[in-house]
Amino acid sequence: MANPIPQHVAIIMDGNGRWAKRQGLLRVQGHEVGVQRVEEIIKAAQEKGIRYLTLYAFSKENWRRPKDEVEFLMGLLSSYLDKKIDALIKNNCVFNVIGEIEDLPSELQKKLVRAMEVSRSNTGLVVTFALSYSGRREILRACRKIAEKTVEGSLKPANITEDVFSGNLYTAGMPDPELLIRTSGELRVSNFLLWQISYAELYITQKFWPEFTRDEFEKALEDYKKRERRFGDTCAVSGGKT
Ligand code: IPE
Ligand code: IPE
Ligand code: MG
Repeated sequence: MANPIPQHVAIIMDGNGRWAKRQGLLRVQGHEVGVQRVEEIIKAAQEKGIRYLTLYAFSKENWRRPKDEVEFLMGLLSSYLDKKIDALIKNNCVFNVIGEIEDLPSELQKKLVRAMEVSRSNTGLVVTFALSYSGRREILRACRKIAEKTVEGSLKPANITEDVFSGNLYTAGMPDPELLIRTSGELRVSNFLLWQISYAELYITQKFWPEFTRDEFEKALEDYKKRERRFGDTCAVSGGKT
């Protein structure tokens, strides 16, 4: 039997720079076209009835890039919020951010916090942007939170379960992604949602992110439908992980 539509899709949006280079454009122009795909994929996810869409937009490691490119990306995010956030919120989406947002320029932080607050009571697709995000650091942060609770006595070490651990991550309350998409062909997870993707189906396409249109997204969803999800059993396990 085909898998139902995933509840949570996570995407590593990679390949803007290479796409631009191939077109004879500047890397930053690739990022600009990438923003159009973000809009398109959010709409498609909504129409498909996906509940959570988590987009890797800027990693903790991306701060190593040339200053000009980093500044351009911050500006692009800021103008995306200015132009598009109202429509997203009107469309009943919840806007969410994970990562170390204290690293971001303060004006941008304010815009992000406002968007999160204004959309909090919406009931539609939860769109999460991972910004200054590192999976390892998210796990460390959860460990520290848990350690504090055990020291103060509100949590016994024996009661630290997988659910408790998940509840101390940025993604607390969200189901784990059933599908992880990476564009541009790289066969790595680049420090994204390390705990949460333990049993995610991987879909890696050669398409660069600026080429990842709605049709390409639909192909990924079709491919996911056909996967046999065994979770260690000998045959497909219906209804997901136990
Ligand atoms: C993804 O595209 C966007 C970000 C990581 C911000 P890249 O900028 O990584 O593009 P490539 O991988 O160099 O082609
Ligand atoms: C991963 O892409 C991060 C984002 C998509 C935001 P990178 O381009 O930074 O990944 P690596 O460096 O090739 O692993
Ligand atoms: Mg890249």
